[in-house]
Amino acid sequence: MTSTRNRVLTPDASTEDKALDNSLRPRSFGEYVGQARLRENLHVFVEAAKKRGDALDHVLLSGPPGLGKTTLALIIAHELNAGIQITSGPAVERKGDLAGILSNLQPRDVLFIDEIHRLNPVVEENLYPAMEDFEFDIIIGEGPHARNMKLPLPQFTLVGATTRSGLLTSPLRDRFGVVARLEYYTAPELQQIVLRSAHILRVPIEASAAMEIAGRARGTPRIANRLLRRLRDFAQVRGDGTITLDIAGFGLDRLEVDARGLDPLDRLYLTTLIEKFGGGPAGIETLSAAVSEEKDTLEDVCEPYLIQEGYIQRTPRGRIATPLAYRHLGLRTPRTSESEDQGSLL
Ligand SMILES: Nc1ncnc2c1ncn2[C@@H]1O[C@H](COP(=O)(O)OP(=O)(O)OP(=O)(O)O)[C@@H](O)[C@H]1O
Ligand SMILES: [Mg+2]
Repeated sequence: MTSTRNRVLTPDASTEDKALDNSLRPRSFGEYVGQARLRENLHVFVEAAKKRGDALDHVLLSGPPGLGKTTLALIIAHELNAGIQITSGPAVERKGDLAGILSNLQPRDVLFIDEIHRLNPVVEENLYPAMEDFEFDIIIGEGPHARNMKLPLPQFTLVGATTRSGLLTSPLRDRFGVVARLEYYTAPELQQIVLRSAHILRVPIEASAAMEIAGRARGTPRIANRLLRRLRDFAQVRGDGTITLDIAGFGLDRLEVDARGLDPLDRLYLTTLIEKFGGGPAGIETLSAAVSEEKDTLEDVCEPYLIQEGYIQRTPRGRIATPLAYRHLGLRTPRTSESEDQGSLL
């Protein structure tokens, strides 16, 4: 199901974004804005590993799309002065594919596996000894003469990224020395990112306009960068090329980004939950069918932000719209039915 809606706010990377992602990507911990605690800890672990001449512990990065997981993996390799091999869960289809990747690694290299929750179980099992003992189990021969052999591997660092840490098996998760969750960015952090990107792209922008973008970027650097690029078009056509506060406000309205940064899909989700399901509880399957959007998109993209901003709650019986959701959409909260619902949940 591909949505034709205005998706300027989707954090998923389009082809156009990927080129932009690369040119705007910070290359070092020093250039990386936000995620302060995680960034500082990683910096310490990297320096310590370098001093000891060891590979860094395996790192698991989780968090919604566009928050900087790939960027951090690249920075880790760069700061370790190590090479990086990049692949993704679904791309490693067979045990042999994994063997090929692992045998190409140099000592202390980083192996980055994106969407690591989508590894096939057989491949995943073969990854365990590689992570733990830097060994790869192979079987030589067939039938009664088959023998198990352990192939030694160089010490390497696995950096895994996932948008769904809940889908990771615990044996895999337990093999990571560092498990980190990326958080949505604050508006001042996003403002700094927008100003930095504008500088790289040579787009003149007012600080207040950068803040306006930051406030409407759903806490996500990729979205902030995308809005910046769109507003550059508005500034060129409607103004003298500078993104002023006026142009930012005008452009963001045109792009259907509302004052709280919710996009059309977020609003459709909330309106459906409220108008079709009386504010919930409604199950994710039901909601997914009602808004004609994949369940994964709702769970990966919409819900984490709506939950963090307090528009919905996820309960064992389904999703519930909070009074804030009603208020945001200019709807009246149905007091009685809602308090009954809440009561029966307790
Ligand atoms: N901390 C940051 N400081 C500055 N720019 C950032 C930061 N984090 C991300 N970005 C920008 O956002 C873009 C998207 O980040 P990135 O590709 O690393 O996200 P991701 O978490 O890997 O997303 P996905 O889950 O879709 O793979 C980067 O190219 C970069 O331009
Ligand atoms: Mg990524």
